[in-house]
Amino acid sequence: MVIKDTLLYLAQNQRLRDFVVQNKITRTASRRFVAGEVLEDAVHATRALNERGIQVALDLLGENVALKEEAAEATQAYMNAIELIGRTQIDANISIKLTALGLDISPDLCEKNLLTILECGHQHNVFVCIDMEASDYTEQTVTMARNAYEQYKQVGTVIQSYLYRSHDDINQLVDQGVRIRLVKGAYKEPQSVAYQEKADVDKNYIQLMQILLARGNFPAIASHDEAIIDAACKFVRDHGISKTSFEFQMLYGIRRDLQEKLVRQGYNMRVYVPYGSHWYPYLMRRMAERPANLMFVVTNSWR
Ligand code: FDA
Repeated sequence: MVIKDTLLYLAQNQRLRDFVVQNKITRTASRRFVAGEVLEDAVHATRALNERGIQVALDLLGENVALKEEAAEATQAYMNAIELIGRTQIDANISIKLTALGLDISPDLCEKNLLTILECGHQHNVFVCIDMEASDYTEQTVTMARNAYEQYKQVGTVIQSYLYRSHDDINQLVDQGVRIRLVKGAYKEPQSVAYQEKADVDKNYIQLMQILLARGNFPAIASHDEAIIDAACKFVRDHGISKTSFEFQMLYGIRRDLQEKLVRQGYNMRVYVPYGSHWYPYLMRRMAERPANLMFVVTNSWR
């Protein structure tokens, strides 16, 4: 818990970020979890995954921009990814972050950028999932996803099982028909809004997952936790739910053995492929989830 909290704290540290990002060796080690720094790297990784029967969610890394110009740049970069998917016919959709679109600058600016991306997604028939960030943004993210869904049906969002509010959010989103990716949650949250114990987060995950599998619109069960995955497989078997009515999702470079096993068993599997130069906070969150990854990065740094 101490290591996890420290890594999540350091994820915000500017100095460490500059050191890690500029260091050639840590940049190389980060490639285990990040496809590369440019869109072409992500397309290369996508093709390799598609060949193994795995679909992809492309994620341009970057969050919390402070300037309108940066938000415009991110909007254009997400659209470039959508157009490339449309043009090359790789089997992928995209994931976006509202703070990369300017949510910290102005919700109106962010919403305008979001709708521009969704129009592009609509034209190229590419689904867009809005990632869920720290709890300060949950209300705005859920509201923006719900409003956008009224205009564009190919938008979905993410719900985190560590938040107390998620049960209500899921019921509202499911009633409306919005597609949901269910995750445990990757940020450091206070006890006032989130469960702190893994057992509570997992218990809530299972309850929310059962709602989604029973009546959600093509939900995504995003986890590497074998107990959760076994529970999902058992639930759909026991309730006669089709394997094709939902998908499992995992992160690039994590539990590749389990990804392939589920594909062999006939389940849909989508892997979240991050790319871009702003990979530092993403890498720190992956290390916080599993401090053994810290050892991976450190030992690879000395090879
Ligand atoms: P848990 O953390 O309990 O881990 C279970 C087991 O999985 C571990 O024992 C280990 O074997 C393996 N494992 C988990 N994490 C690992 C890692 N980093 N490296 C190696 N092994 C690991 N979060 C969020 O807040 N907002 C979001 O939008 C998203 N989006 C998202 C998309 C997708 C496709 C996935 C898979 C995850 C996210 N997340 C996320 C992250 C999520 O909230 C969560 O932090 C991680 O998935 C880790 O939780 P698990 O469910 O895997 O379980």
